[in-house]
Amino acid sequence: MNQVEQDQIKSLIRSIPDFPEAGVVFRDITTALKDAEGLRIIMDDFVERYKDKHIDYVLGADARGFIFGAALAYAIGAGFVPARKPGKLPAETVSVSYDLEYGSNSIEVHKDAFTKGDNVLVIDDLLATGGTAKAMTELVEALGAHVYELAFMIELADLGGRDILKEYDVYSQLKY
Ligand code: PRP
Ligand code: ADE
Repeated sequence: MNQVEQDQIKSLIRSIPDFPEAGVVFRDITTALKDAEGLRIIMDDFVERYKDKHIDYVLGADARGFIFGAALAYAIGAGFVPARKPGKLPAETVSVSYDLEYGSNSIEVHKDAFTKGDNVLVIDDLLATGGTAKAMTELVEALGAHVYELAFMIELADLGGRDILKEYDVYSQLKY
């Protein structure tokens, strides 16, 4: 994403101090998503980067990763797999727990979501501590699949998410 586009998208993101708790500046992407041109710039950038890369599946994190993940999978001719918060998936699952900038959680996929050797792109709206993203890589690898790269709209660089993802390629459109 070029600098002009980055500035345009940043101008569409709303920052809310002290949400959901004191000290957190919440980067609200809903204001960028509802802007048709903003949404197009964001999605075109992801599509351009990942088309023709032989990605079998896009794995999106519950819930905001679904917004980008399914649209991207459709556009590049891949399948979409949702990584869901606990208790939502009906069949047999594999599960990983992780810590968040605020709180902790676990995330799971169906055991038959991937098979050995599948090439998987992991996507989410935002990289903060990296706990969610790392858990997603663990889910992919637990099923014998390969992480092609991790993609984010926003990276909160000060929280060091990239450091716990050192062994992977990480792409973010915007840094704060
Ligand atoms: C947010 C965000 C990422 C995660 C990033 O999700 O959408 O998934 O936190 O934080 P981390 O890098 O510290 O793991 P949240 O759990 O708030 O869920 P939501 O998408 O349902 O709002
Ligand atoms: N997820 C984790 N930290 C966040 C933040 N600061 N803004 C929006 N989503 C988040």
